[in-house]
Amino acid sequence: MKVMSVFGTRPEAIKMCPLILELQKHSEIESVVCLTGQHREMLHQVMKIFKIEAQYDLNIMQPKQTLTTIAVRILEKFEEVLKMEKPDIVLVHGDTSTSFLAALAAFYQQISVGHVEAGLRTYDKYSPFPEEMNRSLIGKIADLHFAPTQNNKNNLEKENIINNVYVTGNTVIDTFQTTVKEGYQYKDSDLQKIDFSDKRCILMTAHRRENLGQPLVNICRAVKRMVEEYSDIEVVYPVHMNPAVRDTAAEILGNMDRVHLIHPLDVEDMHNLMSKSYFVMTDSGGLQEEAPACGVPVLVLRTETERPEAVEAGTVKVVGVEEENIYKEAKVLLTEKDSYHQMAHAVNPYGDGHSSGRIVKHILEWHKEISR
Ligand code: UD1
Ligand code: UDP
Repeated sequence: MKVMSVFGTRPEAIKMCPLILELQKHSEIESVVCLTGQHREMLHQVMKIFKIEAQYDLNIMQPKQTLTTIAVRILEKFEEVLKMEKPDIVLVHGDTSTSFLAALAAFYQQISVGHVEAGLRTYDKYSPFPEEMNRSLIGKIADLHFAPTQNNKNNLEKENIINNVYVTGNTVIDTFQTTVKEGYQYKDSDLQKIDFSDKRCILMTAHRRENLGQPLVNICRAVKRMVEEYSDIEVVYPVHMNPAVRDTAAEILGNMDRVHLIHPLDVEDMHNLMSKSYFVMTDSGGLQEEAPACGVPVLVLRTETERPEAVEAGTVKVVGVEEENIYKEAKVLLTEKDSYHQMAHAVNPYGDGHSSGRIVKHILEWHKEISR
């Protein structure tokens, strides 16, 4: 059978690469990889680590691209690839524009779709935007649904999506288990230069579309106040390549001694830095899964989350996007030892690191069933 995996952004690549390596182990599967190139540098950084060569790269990225330009370019270009390759199934991941548009293009060719990381929901169609709508629509299109947790499967059931739904864990744990190593030496030269001795490292990332503008300004101002008040913290912020993010970060945090605005890290540097951080501040989805797995508290710079599992376990806290509240919650972690230790325990509701194997098994069984 021919399985075509399609992805285009950093987080999709981080979570799809272990699955592709697993597909490659099966001689009965022809694995074809198509990149949309929705991201460029941040995507190729991941491909290099996993040493995976793509057969196609639609190369659609443009500076400051809009949702519409991404959509039009992917729909048109991916259709050509589908017509040429005629895969038995197309695998998409999560909730990006790439994932939704690739699923839609496959549907137009009447090709089956498998959705990896299915069933995450906030039930607020504008938050995260446009991801909540993307993943709901992929859920409608997909023939196979790989839900990381039982909670995600329940969400699908509420939408009457009940056939071919499997709880597999999240492939991010497959990746995470191979990247974090004892005695790891950072590759990034900026990271190598930071002196962490006697300092607490706070790792931050922020990039979401709904946080661009005033919310990101609020987040950066809260961080500025923290650094001015606490002399024993070093904030490391690998800044997303979106110019709208970079400009705000540089304007507010650019000239501060203990704030390190560095280039996006490769996933090995990132995971190892995360595992040594005091806490994480982020609006990223992936970091909310990874940091709890290594017992690092997370303050979520959003008003909601589609990942309630670690919030329920107490390792993740949703703190919103207002300066005062972010500052207040960070201060609690910096000054109140009991509160810190209550949050700093390892929580991993996202699987045992064997999710890719389960997904491939379900794909093979499905194919056997439909080929009868
Ligand atoms: C996308 C996803 C988001 C995901 C995020 C991961 C959508 C709608 N959004 O958002 O769900 O959380 O990726 O990071 O699919 N850029 C570069 N080089 C790169 C990557 C981006 O220069 O390697 C710049 C470009 O100017 C680009 C801009 O960043 O136009 C925004 O990229 P885009 O993919 O549109 O949005 P993200 O915010 O990255
Ligand atoms: N990540 C990385 N380098 C960075 C920032 C993030 O490798 O400089 C990883 C992070 O560990 C996680 C993933 O990228 O695995 C999250 O990607 P992102 O925040 O871009 O997207 P989201 O998870 O919000 O969709």
